[in-house]
Amino acid sequence: MRKPAKLIFAASAVAMLLGTTMVPMTAQAASAEEGKKLAEDRKKGNCVSCHAYEGANMPGNAAPPLVAMKARYPDKKKLRDQIADPTKANPNTIMPPFGKHGILSGKDIDAITEWVYTL
Ligand code: HEC
Repeated sequence: MRKPAKLIFAASAVAMLLGTTMVPMTAQAASAEEGKKLAEDRKKGNCVSCHAYEGANMPGNAAPPLVAMKARYPDKKKLRDQIADPTKANPNTIMPPFGKHGILSGKDIDAITEWVYTL
C-alpha cells in the first residue's frame, strides 16, 4: 500500500507545480483576448476605427498602424499611458483620452495594453 500512496503524492505534487506555472500564463492570455474585444467594440475602445493592425476588420487610417509595439515601447507603462491619456504626448491629438475621460476602466486599459503588446 505504500507504493501507490507515494505515486499519488508525486502525481499531485506535479499537478500542483503545473497549476502554479499555468495559471498566470492563461490569465495573461485571457486578458489580451479581452483587450482585443474591447479594442474592436465600437462602444468601448473602438481603436479599429482609427488604427490598422494585423487581422483588423476594415480599419480606419486616421492613425499610425499598431505594429511592432513591444519593440517600440520597451517600457509597457509608456504604452499604457499613451492609451490612458494620449494628450500627455500630444495635447492636440484626436485620439480620445480613454482613462482621463473615463471611457474605459483601468482594468479595460490594462487588458487593451496587453493586447496591443502582442501586435
Ligand atoms: C479618433 C481616432 C483614434 C482612436 C479611436 C484611437 N486612436 Fe490611437 N492614435 C490616434 C492618432 C491620430 C495617433 C497618433 C499620435 C497622435 O496624433 O497623438 C494615435 C496614437 C496611438 C498610439 C501610439 C502609436 C505609435 O506609433 O507610437 C497607440 C499605442 C495608440 N494610439 C493606441 C490606441 C488604442 C489602443 C486605441 C483604442 C483603445 C486607440 N489608439 C484609439 C488616433 C486614435
